[in-house]
Amino acid sequence: MRFPPAFLDEIRDRVPISSVIGQRVAWDRKKTNASRGDYWACCPFHGEKSPSFHCEDKKGRYHCFGCSVSGDHFKFLTELEGLSFPEAVEKIADMAGVPMPVRDAQEERREKERASLTDVMEMATVFFQERLQGPEGAKARAYLRDRGLTPATQQSFRLGFAPDSRNALKEHLAAKGVPKADIEACGLVRHGDDIPVSYDWFRDRIMFPIPDSRGKIIAFGGRALAPDALAKYMNSPDTELFHKGNVLYNFARARKALAKGGTVIAVEGYMDVIALAQAGFENVVAPLGTALTENQLELLWRMAPEPMLCFDGDKAGLKAAWRAADLALPSVQAGRSARFALLPEGKDPDDLVKAEGPDAFRAVLADARPLVDLLWMRETAGGVFDTPERRAELGKTLRELASRIRDESTRYHYQQEMREREKSFFGSQRDTRQGRQDWKPGQQGKAAAPGGQFAKPGGGRMAITESLGQSALVRRGEGMSVREATIIVALVNHPALIDENFAHVEFLDLANSDLTRLHAAILDAMAHDMANDRHAVVATIERAGCAEIWERAVGLIKRARQWPALETAALEDARDALNQALHLQRSARTLHKELKQAEAALEADPSDENFRHLIEIQAQFQDVQATEALIEGFGVSSGRAGRA
Ligand code: UTP
Ligand code: MN
Repeated sequence: MRFPPAFLDEIRDRVPISSVIGQRVAWDRKKTNASRGDYWACCPFHGEKSPSFHCEDKKGRYHCFGCSVSGDHFKFLTELEGLSFPEAVEKIADMAGVPMPVRDAQEERREKERASLTDVMEMATVFFQERLQGPEGAKARAYLRDRGLTPATQQSFRLGFAPDSRNALKEHLAAKGVPKADIEACGLVRHGDDIPVSYDWFRDRIMFPIPDSRGKIIAFGGRALAPDALAKYMNSPDTELFHKGNVLYNFARARKALAKGGTVIAVEGYMDVIALAQAGFENVVAPLGTALTENQLELLWRMAPEPMLCFDGDKAGLKAAWRAADLALPSVQAGRSARFALLPEGKDPDDLVKAEGPDAFRAVLADARPLVDLLWMRETAGGVFDTPERRAELGKTLRELASRIRDESTRYHYQQEMREREKSFFGSQRDTRQGRQDWKPGQQGKAAAPGGQFAKPGGGRMAITESLGQSALVRRGEGMSVREATIIVALVNHPALIDENFAHVEFLDLANSDLTRLHAAILDAMAHDMANDRHAVVATIERAGCAEIWERAVGLIKRARQWPALETAALEDARDALNQALHLQRSARTLHKELKQAEAALEADPSDENFRHLIEIQAQFQDVQATEALIEGFGVSSGRAGRA
């Protein structure tokens, strides 16, 4: 039976642990300090000559510094004396003089019922496993093989097959003496007043048994083999054993794997969990076909302080990520947050590891963003904050978000972080006073000259030259920026935009020499009047020997999730993306030049006026830089973009 936790606490509190252990060991008189409730003895678990076994009444626990056993009253009795747990409880209750709780007959009956239902689920699991190996399982075996699951993987996840029959499982269980009511209570058949003869819930499906936290099977997911099946996946209905929103697929195994370190990763589907396990990622779980619930999030936090939430790289995935972020936000605190990873477009983890191997998935994880980034990006990306009113609106939204956090100290830090991000996003005009305090013309003389200092996002300070070097805006010659690739790829894929932006396209000033070659090819196509035909433009690129560059540019765009630049995007979306990128491009190139000039001017003459001018340009520069960062968005750090 289950004991109420309050009862266990009560008897544990009443009985000093030393009086339980003292019945079995002789205390060491020298080391022991009984008046402080501090006892030492030779360890009864591993046998030794000098005492390294310690127990403390205040804590109600024992620990051996020799063999590192530890535990409480009950553990001592069950492990050393071999009592069952209820027997240990009875003994302590007796010592405490507290009567045992009256057994709740109803609870006990339910416990028994649950036990017999898990037995039935186990029988069903074996049945499905055997069918998969039998003659009717041939098609399913071929399917699983085609999807790349080894027999060992299939076995360790206990995959099975439900034959295409209305009563194969039902009759199998009945023949083994399982009562009809139990089969129904397990959710293995469809039944009810309107169904004269109950029939098997799962038919002609690959079966994924769903274990509970101890590894006992409590439900199934079934994947249709027929591509035209009404539902691709079907789950067991909620039963006495199974409550969909409280369970994570693969929880028990993942928790075990976490002992080796790392954090828990949540993905969207069964197949993802299994494919990842086969690729060496054992610490992966999935919800069961619904969006992540609060209970599931709690389960994740029980496993690790910062679970990694992985979403498919499409609109739906991003939406699911926002939703999970909102769910997590109120509950974050020290040691309780989440990171978010987005997969490349159109791929789930299963596709990704199969096509590109485990390292590709590792790269996705490495690019995961903390919760605060995700919220910031959601509120700012694509927004226009060109008036005080709009900025105030953003500030309000961000404050409202932070205010949802229940933990006071975390809430405070979020508020601060959001304020700092806002400040650097809108430029550093308001920092002028602060900057002037730091920068003391005359006193530092030449040493301070290369540029003075300015606030970098996050509040730290760094020299301008250093910051410039890191900026994606000025990576001249150093690989493609997403911004420049967006311009070129959007133009090629949507040639109508070439005409529309003729003036800008003709005099495009690109930092990257490879993209400059593609630009030349576009101009060439334009000169030959082929610019309204995508195929002709691509052909011109190929003729110019730039096919590989083109592929790289498209690859970068996909990784950067700049979907609007791709061929499949609607023209209006492509137009928006192009205009934004062109705008940034012009600002970036101009600002870069102006910044260099201001820097040089300040170096030549460290006057107040030159300093103010520099600060002014920096503010604009940071504005563009922040917008750029948003565009590069998920998954493409400037480093990776640079190398691509
Ligand atoms: P997906 O559609 O992403 O499927 O659904 P998948 O996991 O990638 O499966 P394969 O690769 O096509 O075989 C993700 C999860 O959503 C639930 C399932 O739990 C699935 O694993 N789901 C999906 C359903 O419950 N019902 C459905 O019809 C589809
Ligand atoms: Mn899949």
